[in-house]
Amino acid sequence: MTTQRKRILTGDRPTGKLHLGHYVGSMKNRVALQDEYECYFIIADLHTLTTRPEKEHVTGLAQNIYDVVLDYLAVGIDPERSTIFLQSAVRETFELAQLFGNLVTLPRLSRLPSIKDMARAANMDDETVPFGLIGYPVLQAADILLPRAHLVPVGKDNEAHVEITREIARRFNRLYDAEVFPIPDVMIGEVPTLIGTDGQAKMSKSLGNAIMLSDDAKAVEEKVRGMYTDPNRVRADIPGRVEGNPVFIYHDAFNPNVEEVNDLKERYLLGKVGDVEVKRKLARAINAFLDPIRERRATYEAQPGLVEEVLVEGTRKMQAEARITLDLVYDAMGMAGARLRRALESATPFLLK
Ligand code: TRP
Repeated sequence: MTTQRKRILTGDRPTGKLHLGHYVGSMKNRVALQDEYECYFIIADLHTLTTRPEKEHVTGLAQNIYDVVLDYLAVGIDPERSTIFLQSAVRETFELAQLFGNLVTLPRLSRLPSIKDMARAANMDDETVPFGLIGYPVLQAADILLPRAHLVPVGKDNEAHVEITREIARRFNRLYDAEVFPIPDVMIGEVPTLIGTDGQAKMSKSLGNAIMLSDDAKAVEEKVRGMYTDPNRVRADIPGRVEGNPVFIYHDAFNPNVEEVNDLKERYLLGKVGDVEVKRKLARAINAFLDPIRERRATYEAQPGLVEEVLVEGTRKMQAEARITLDLVYDAMGMAGARLRRALESATPFLLK
């Protein structure tokens, strides 16, 4: 095939191991689109510094980066076909973010609910919120536009950030009368936000209501056994609610046996099935879903240095692409400083006039 495939850029902050919410929100799309698109997956370590700049966190990132890359490989992201890279190792990210900061207003960024939520979660208020956190979506725009991506598969909570990216791309193209950046589309997973095992709106490791992609079969069974269901259904012979019930939301998301799920739902509505059976079948389905992921994880884990190698290769590839983009950017802008730098790199003369 000679036609250029369109590009995807998406990724995660390395805050630890990934869970089922990550999978249905975005990961599933990523795995599925690897052939159709040229895929770039970013491990966004710089973004974690926007709420956690302290030394202990920064040094702990190495382990988290390892864990996320391994999760990627385990779910089926294929390093032969896709590029996995580390954000902070691509210096052009910083450059592009700096330039993009001039193309969006402070009020536009400050009003974003996602930023407010992150600030609140980190115990920050209007007086203590750092510049970096307000600039989070600007940095994300730099990530997305660095490989000049066309599509961004993310969870619902990142939708507004892709909108900011689109605004910045449009603004850049218009200001400099160039077509450097595509206007990237967002793609939200079939379960935009997965409910937690405790019934809270969002599955999150920090809320302690997550089933991790790396959980073993026993951990899954225990977590499912402890799941929140219909609080009004104190006995198995009372009709229960299926809609909004976490166990059925998970059945819909992870149990491919539609007949079994429909049968359970029918009996649940009539008060003819106990939570125990519903949960036992759910744990079985989730474990069946996780089994191939566990197998791949074991294969990759057994090869020492492999995770690092994947990251080195991917970062090298992203660096090369980033240089091309920055050349296009500076050429479109006509920046003398960029010409000076290139002159220095190639030991050629530099002229201002
Ligand atoms: N903001 C994303 C998150 O919530 C992580 C991220 C950083 C990202 N840069 C990105 C996602 C670029 C998609 C595209 O964790």
